Amino acid sequence: MIKAESKSPGNIFLFGEHAVVYHKPAIIGSVGLYTKCVISKLKNEEIIIYSKELGKAFCKNNIKKGKKDLFPLINLCNFLIRKYKLKCGLEIKIESQIPVASGLSSSSAVLCSILRSFSKLFNLKLKNGNYYKYLINFQKEIHGGKASGAEIISSSFGGLNYIYFYKNRLRHRQINLNYKLIAVIGDTKIKTKTSKTVASYIPKLIKKDKLFVNKSFNKIKTICEQRLLAFKKNDLVVLGQLLNKNQEILKSLGLSHPKIDLAIKKALDAGAFGAKLSGKGQGGIMFALTNAKRKFLVANAIKKAGLETKIIKIGI
Ligand code: MEV
Repeated sequence: MIKAESKSPGNIFLFGEHAVVYHKPAIIGSVGLYTKCVISKLKNEEIIIYSKELGKAFCKNNIKKGKKDLFPLINLCNFLIRKYKLKCGLEIKIESQIPVASGLSSSSAVLCSILRSFSKLFNLKLKNGNYYKYLINFQKEIHGGKASGAEIISSSFGGLNYIYFYKNRLRHRQINLNYKLIAVIGDTKIKTKTSKTVASYIPKLIKKDKLFVNKSFNKIKTICEQRLLAFKKNDLVVLGQLLNKNQEILKSLGLSHPKIDLAIKKALDAGAFGAKLSGKGQGGIMFALTNAKRKFLVANAIKKAGLETKIIKIGI
């Protein structure tokens, strides 16, 4: 085989973003938006990456050139080439339905799709359970040094998962909740790099007021666990209330944004069960939990708040 193709999904955090970086659980679901990667062998030992969204980068004789945002992907390719002692180069073409820097795990989706295509191309049959350990360092590089890896697990396995990392992060507990939800995503189009909130804003806040942040993350942990216990019941009302509670905590930590607050209010007024931001926050996307009957009403309300909307399924 000289060419292989695969795709991996983006994600929504129902509960637990940020807190999951500090050994609290999260509930995260894959969404029906994908990043596709086509990978080909090159005769010369070069790496070339073309991203429809981000541009081009390449690496020859260990010298990287082009779009810096793509350098972690070059580093992943170099790691794989060394690990499998390959005597060829790689060309990677990336196309994504997931808006970059929006809070929908575009970076995990691209890392997972590269690894999946690579595994196909070289017939490695890598299991989903291996993706975390292969990719976490590159996710950290993209996030400015800090990442939980929950998004990698979600993008590689898919579905709706409860994820809890033990203290040393070498092991984690994962429960597939087997549940699908309908939501409307509202995109503020405010692009905030994950590194800004994960590697800078929250660590600074912890330095300033450790007790407050700890208390907030512990409240999120309680919400997550409450929800885990109740997941079998089809109680969208309770789920919605818990989403709102998690959002209040994220807001009190300074992770929301006026545009997100407005869209959440409009969505709730239009009958959404609950709504919150997802991912790094301070911009990016929000989502509102709804059902087949209410989804267009909720989408219209979010649109009226000035956000671009998409109706999606979570947990597919
Ligand atoms: C960022 O998309 C999600 C965070 O929880 C960071 C992480 O889990 O790596 C904020």
